[in-house]
Amino acid sequence: MNSVSPAHDSAAHSHGVALAAERRWSVIVAVIITLLVLMMIFTGLHWGAMPPSRVETINSRTLHLSGEFVENNLGTSIGADGKVVARLIAQQYSFEPQCIVVPAEMPVTFRGTSTDAVHGFVVGTTNANVMLIPGFVATFTTTFKKTGEQLMPCHEYCGTGHEAMWARVQVIPPGEFMARANRGQRLNCVSR
Ligand code: CUA
Repeated sequence: MNSVSPAHDSAAHSHGVALAAERRWSVIVAVIITLLVLMMIFTGLHWGAMPPSRVETINSRTLHLSGEFVENNLGTSIGADGKVVARLIAQQYSFEPQCIVVPAEMPVTFRGTSTDAVHGFVVGTTNANVMLIPGFVATFTTTFKKTGEQLMPCHEYCGTGHEAMWARVQVIPPGEFMARANRGQRLNCVSR
């Protein structure tokens, strides 16, 4: 045999091209994975995007009969400890109350649960975002920086009416909230 055939030459060439492409893609994939891990760390530390930190159970069959989530206890109130608590329940296919009033610039603790399927909600573009699971009380605390109205859609697929399941959140100035809440009532902005 004399010199290397053109066919062998081109096979060696494409092997080289494939190796280079594989190396290039392994670097790109490594960069993407590193970026995703860094994003998880960043959002976990800075946006308070955390899983629920406590497991609190509740009997979802008797929610409406007694206890914390009876109808006249839903809405936003100031607790004995001076903290603002917004209580709500989710059911196919609505939230109760349908319109939630919260103060701006003050920590607000949400307490919610579901009567039937797994639901969830996110408040506008804020970091208020939680899953509501039957049998468990979801709790998180957040502070709304700006006043105004935000939409609060259900973000867990919960059945045929899922896309029509949403509520509104009205963020009002803290002074106005305190004046209204001090009258002792549970606030909501559902028009009657
Ligand atoms: Cu409730 Cu989707």
